[in-house]
This record gives sequence, structure tokens and C-alpha cells, in this order.
Amino acid sequence: EAIEKGGYEHFMLKEIFEQPRSIGDCLRGRLNAQEGHLHLGGIHDYINKIKNADRILIIACGTSWHAGLVAEYIFEEFCRIPVEVEYASEFRYRNPVVGEKDVVIAISQSGETADTLAAIELAKSKGATILGVCNVVGSSIPRATHAGSYTHAGPEIGVASTKAFTAQISVLTMMALMIANKKGTLKESVYRNLLIELEAVPDKVAKCLDLNAQIELIAEKYKDASNCLYLGRGYNFPVALEGALKLKEISYIHAEGYPAAEMKHGPIALIDENMPVVFIATKDGSYEKIVSNIQEVKARKGQVIAVVTEGDTEIAAMADHIIEVPAAHEALMPLISVIPLQLLSYHIAVMRGCNVDQPRNLAKSVTVE
Ligand code: G6P
Repeated sequence: EAIEKGGYEHFMLKEIFEQPRSIGDCLRGRLNAQEGHLHLGGIHDYINKIKNADRILIIACGTSWHAGLVAEYIFEEFCRIPVEVEYASEFRYRNPVVGEKDVVIAISQSGETADTLAAIELAKSKGATILGVCNVVGSSIPRATHAGSYTHAGPEIGVASTKAFTAQISVLTMMALMIANKKGTLKESVYRNLLIELEAVPDKVAKCLDLNAQIELIAEKYKDASNCLYLGRGYNFPVALEGALKLKEISYIHAEGYPAAEMKHGPIALIDENMPVVFIATKDGSYEKIVSNIQEVKARKGQVIAVVTEGDTEIAAMADHIIEVPAAHEALMPLISVIPLQLLSYHIAVMRGCNVDQPRNLAKSVTVE
């Protein structure tokens, strides 16, 4: 086992550090930004179907569902196709309206999640086209779908998903860009720029990993917290959900992720000097809005840890701690901004003496409902 961990103390840490490579593997052979080439062979025959879809339904559970939320923002922005993201467990039992012009994208690391599989069968029986985004080659979900694209992240052993999440977003981003390009909903120059940006993601993720020691120091300060709030807006809202899930599943600290503007409809009541609030506040279209959300938390003496874009001085002046990540197109930021949150939850869990690779009550693959 020590050999399999490749010198890392836990699989989770190894998998977090593998991400520059796993994202690179996911993009390899599919994306060549210089030549303006982007091709996902697995869905080639379905491009017209997706392009002309009335609606895209994304079905998943857990962390994969969070990747689906990121994809919702990306598909709607670039492809102008309405997207709904569904928990597989809810979808399968609520007699959903699904038709032949719907395209379903099922996302699953293991390819074995029982609820996701059942949701696929239901949508299939109603005539929808089903695509899979899975990591485990030859698993049940890829076999049940019409077509799909593998994430090629390599085996993920840690129960808390890390590299599978970033690989899922990478594949979904490529899908969206491919469809948008074929559909003509994205200007050629914007499309070409996004390809260049996507190709640069692995190096930017590597830069985030260089922050490990700094993040460990922040973890030391907050390891005894009993609650934690994660807030983000736009593309960083699903990252807030994922950051909170990572913390609660491995450290057993109660954590909630929220869209930052929703804070005033509830969570703000919880904020006092004992409440750490993690903001994902990189420079994007909602930057000024999130700055005012940070001010609202500081006014109530909350402890602010902010993930910001390198060189940000405005939030640095307000927050208790900042974690600076490389700049990127806002649509690609989740691939970068989630990295410090994975590391933060990892270190807090280790400091609390938790079994990070096998947290209590959780399973890597949920094959029962
Ligand atoms: C379990 C795992 C999570 C995972 C979820 C969905 O809860 O612990 O890490 O996100 O199942 O699994 P899937 O294999 O379908 O992505």
C-alpha cells in the first residue's frame, strides 16, 4: 500500500497532487489549442443530436452532481441550450417529464451508482439520448448509455472525490465547447481563446498545489471549528458546495455551501466571531458583488478565508486569510479554485485524527439505494 501511495501519507493527498497530470491526461489527444482542434471521439455520432436538443438533463449524485452544476453554467452560457441538473435519486422517483429531444448526461466516477443507473434506465425508457461521463472503464453506466466520454483520471481510491471531479469538469467543458462551436453560439475568437485557456489549466493547478504549506497553516487555525460556511457566486457557487462537502465528509465538521447572495436569507444569522466563512472570490463577473458579501460577514465579525485571484489587494485588505490562485477565464475557474479547498479539508481532517481515505459511514461506490 505504501508503494501505491507513491510516498504520500494518504491516497487523497496523492490524488489531489495528481491533478495536473490527470487533467492533462483527460485533455490529451482531444484538445490541441494551437491547431484549434477539439474532438471527443466517444460522442462524435451524437453531436447533431446534442446540438439540436430541446434540453440537457444532467443526472448524478454527490461530487459528480457538483460537476454537473458547473456544467450547467458552462452549457447554458456557451451553447444556449437549457440545462437542468438533477439528483438521480430524486429524478428516478418523481415521474419526470422527459422526451425524445432531451439529451441526458449521466456523470459518475465509479459508473456503478445505483440511483444514477436507475435514472438512466428511466430516461432511456422515455426515449431520451443518454451520454455518460464516467471514470471507470467498462463499468455499468458506460454500458447502459448510448455514448459518452471517459474522464481518464486513473483509479481514485480516496472516498472523497478529488481528481475525478476536475476530470469530469474538464470533459464537460470540452463537450460544451465542441457543441457551441458546431452550433455557432460562440464567437470563433472566444472559442479559440477558451481552448488556449483550457490547455493552460494543468499548469495553473500545479501552481495551486505550491500553496500546500500555506494552506496547512490556515488549517491549523480552523481545525477546531464546529461549523463552517462556504460561499461563492456564478461559476464558483458549485465550488462552494463542493468545498463544504469535502470538509464535512472527511473532517466531520458541519459545513454548508451556499450561493453568496443567499446568505442573507438564512446563514447570516449564524455568523459571529466563531464562524469561519470560506469565500471563493476570484475575479469574475460577480466580483464586486462578492466583495460586498465579504464586508457583510466582516461586519458581523466572521472569520474570512478567501480564495482570490493572484494580486488581489481589495479582498486582501478585508479578509483574515487569502489564498491566491492564478487568473483564468471565469468558466474554467472551478478547476482551479477547488484545489485549495481540497487541500484545506485534507489538512483539517488529518489534524483532527480522521481517517481521510475511508471516512466513517461513507462508501466509494454506492451500489445500493
Ligand atoms: C459516493 C462517493 C462520492 C461520489 C458519489 C457519487 O458518495 O463517496 O465521492 O461523489 O458517491 O459517485 P459516482 O461514482 O457516481 O460519481
